[in-house]
Amino acid sequence: MSVRKAVIPVVGLDTRFLPATKAIPKEMLTIVDRPSIQYIVEEVVSSGIDQIIFVTSEGKSAIENHFDYDFHLDCVLREKNKRSLCKELDMISNLIDIVSVRQKKPLGLGHAIWTARHVVGNEPFMVLLGDDLVLAETPCARQMLDLFNELQEPIVAVQRVPQEQTCQYGIVEGMATDRDRIHAVQGLVEKPAPGTTDSDMAMIGRYILTPEIFELLGRTTPGHDGEIQLTDALQALKNIRSMYAYEFEGTCYDAGDKLGYLKAILAYGMRHEKLGADLTAHIRQLAADL
Ligand code: G1P
Repeated sequence: MSVRKAVIPVVGLDTRFLPATKAIPKEMLTIVDRPSIQYIVEEVVSSGIDQIIFVTSEGKSAIENHFDYDFHLDCVLREKNKRSLCKELDMISNLIDIVSVRQKKPLGLGHAIWTARHVVGNEPFMVLLGDDLVLAETPCARQMLDLFNELQEPIVAVQRVPQEQTCQYGIVEGMATDRDRIHAVQGLVEKPAPGTTDSDMAMIGRYILTPEIFELLGRTTPGHDGEIQLTDALQALKNIRSMYAYEFEGTCYDAGDKLGYLKAILAYGMRHEKLGADLTAHIRQLAADL
């Protein structure tokens, strides 16, 4: 089976980014010249998936508006003959048809994904977390879809992190396979206490899941932080079928964290078609002055 749908949870109060996120969702904070959520949507679309389901909560309507057509703005720009801007806005509103479901209670990431069960139905699907931006030559989603087409089993994207950071992630214990970057998952634990795991393989927010996950999520009881954790349901899924961890090619930036956000701006800015060369020269100058 092939993957046609992607679920992007955009829920929560975004307290890590206050006060910037008092009136706007964190997914709408700008990285260079577009909101961070647009990078995620572009990754999905350029990977060949055209059905995106946002799981939203209160205060997130700016995200749906961003991908919608704005008739009034379009008229004003046309009157002013701002053709290239019109074209760019047109491109954004043509990227996806917006489907959104509402998570009515803040019960955790696992619960947010479960909320999309009726829209996804009985087929494999991808999940992308809005905080994790991946800079890669081949989009991370595309790399995972290629692998899924071969393996037809759930896949979680992982990166190696220093031991002292394992408590900030869902950690995968796995066994090397005969293929580079691919591990057979043995166990998963959400944000393990320091010293309780030897593994340094941290899940970043990219998953390809099979539909059994919905029933398992429905049965998952609150775990770490009192929330229904996707990681706990993944452990249950792993108990009934094979699952793989994939060390993707590229660099992941946690744009939901203030320092990660700044790093993302620099990385994306330095690669920007028009601004990259000047920004890089400026960073060199700053570094020389240190
Ligand atoms: C979530 C997941 C965690 C994963 C992380 C990646 O945690 O629960 O397993 O490692 O995303 O960003 P959060 O960052 O929402 O606390």
